[in-house]
Amino acid sequence: MREQEPDSAASAVFPHGVASGDPLADRVILWTRVTPADGGASMPVVDVRWRIARDPALAQAVAQGTVRTTGERDFTVKVDAGGLRPGRPYYYAFETGGERSPVGRTRTLPAGAVDRVRLASVCCSNYPAGFFNVYRCLANREDLDAIVHVGDYIYEFENGVYGEGSGLLRIPEPRREAVTLSDYRIRYATYRTDPDLQEAHRRHPFIVVWDDHELANDAWAGGAVNHNPDQGEGDWATRKAAAYRAYLEWMPIRESPGPGFRLYRSFRFGTLADLVMLDTRALRDRQVPTTDLEALVDPKRAILGATQEAWLFNQLRSSQRAATLWRVLGQQIMFSRVVPPGRPVLTSDTWEGYQAPRDRILDFLAAERVQDVVILSGDLHSSWAFDVPRNPWNGYRGATGEGSLAVELLAPAISSPPLFTDPALRERSVLLRALLPHLKFLEGESRGYILIDVTRTRMRGEWYFVPSVLERSAAETRAASFVCERGSAHLAQA
Ligand SMILES: [Fe+2]
Repeated sequence: MREQEPDSAASAVFPHGVASGDPLADRVILWTRVTPADGGASMPVVDVRWRIARDPALAQAVAQGTVRTTGERDFTVKVDAGGLRPGRPYYYAFETGGERSPVGRTRTLPAGAVDRVRLASVCCSNYPAGFFNVYRCLANREDLDAIVHVGDYIYEFENGVYGEGSGLLRIPEPRREAVTLSDYRIRYATYRTDPDLQEAHRRHPFIVVWDDHELANDAWAGGAVNHNPDQGEGDWATRKAAAYRAYLEWMPIRESPGPGFRLYRSFRFGTLADLVMLDTRALRDRQVPTTDLEALVDPKRAILGATQEAWLFNQLRSSQRAATLWRVLGQQIMFSRVVPPGRPVLTSDTWEGYQAPRDRILDFLAAERVQDVVILSGDLHSSWAFDVPRNPWNGYRGATGEGSLAVELLAPAISSPPLFTDPALRERSVLLRALLPHLKFLEGESRGYILIDVTRTRMRGEWYFVPSVLERSAAETRAASFVCERGSAHLAQA
């Protein structure tokens, strides 16, 4: 059966398309936004009908209902559609005032004995920097269970501050830095008008977590490098709450009840894998100078915060006890050590700046014999693959992976400017590969995504790169492939 084409279904009432996310074995979040003709002035309350079905024509409905939206939530619509069966595709659409949205496709998580899971890991989709060709490549794939987005889904900057070098005139609204609730809403709306992003959302469920740019550059619990109260940006708590509210409104994420910021949550792919999503951004202590050796290892400095850290340990312990074969951590920033202990770090915005909590996690894996851990990360606009020993220069053998406790796969940007384009940094990347025995792959000049293919015996991470983001294209090439056999915590070139 042919799915409804998005172009033919484009509608003035649903210009931001549809999306799904946070699939479980029996339910999934469905999302859309209604755009009233006059901004809602004459229609402050909109009732939207939704339907989810087994077929693209939506004839075999399994659930349906009506949900009300208003300007209070920026006319976004979110439904947690239940009563579904595991490991199946479903199709859904919304309708109001005689107009129907595009028909989306989604997928529930598998249950029981599962042979294979396929995820794509992505991050750093900067609208002015280029076309979202990576999203188009993902939309075209038929083999994904879900797309994991580990943050920088939007960028808060005023146009021209970052990523504008493309010359493409992809100018994000509003024409200023996103600071207020209204700003963040408008920024998400700009991104969601992109046809390639819309199509990725329409074809696959997303599992997302934010990084700093959904708030402000180099955010931490109590502020951000790019938050300037003295320049009229108000207080951080207000801005952070606005960013969080817009994120919940616009992203197909299941909301946790209660106060505070709670984006950490987990997903069970039968007995094959648990995906544990972490928020390393909103609850962390402030970044310290890269040369402050005492602060870098201060056990009191938090990155997850005590509650989330205890929750993570519980998740890992119960996953291991349930004999689930793999544990995948979806999180934003580089986990691996790239500078020997006791030295200044290259950046303190990654786990390098929070070494005590990182060591606690590695000690926990060792003490509780938690195995087969795959750490997903992003944020650095480059591609990295690591074995993750506690100390790469002591008690670890790069050739065999002996001493390694996990592996890490760091995804390149979707469109943001690559890290290693200038010659000096390119040289440094060669040096890093020579100096770091646990570093298995480093490429710093391309955009793309990682395809993560998990089976009972091994995990394979494949880097797909796109040739350009300066013109719209669905071309991609497979650039690298690494395999981790179960029980090895070691990446080998496939
Ligand atoms: Fe980024």
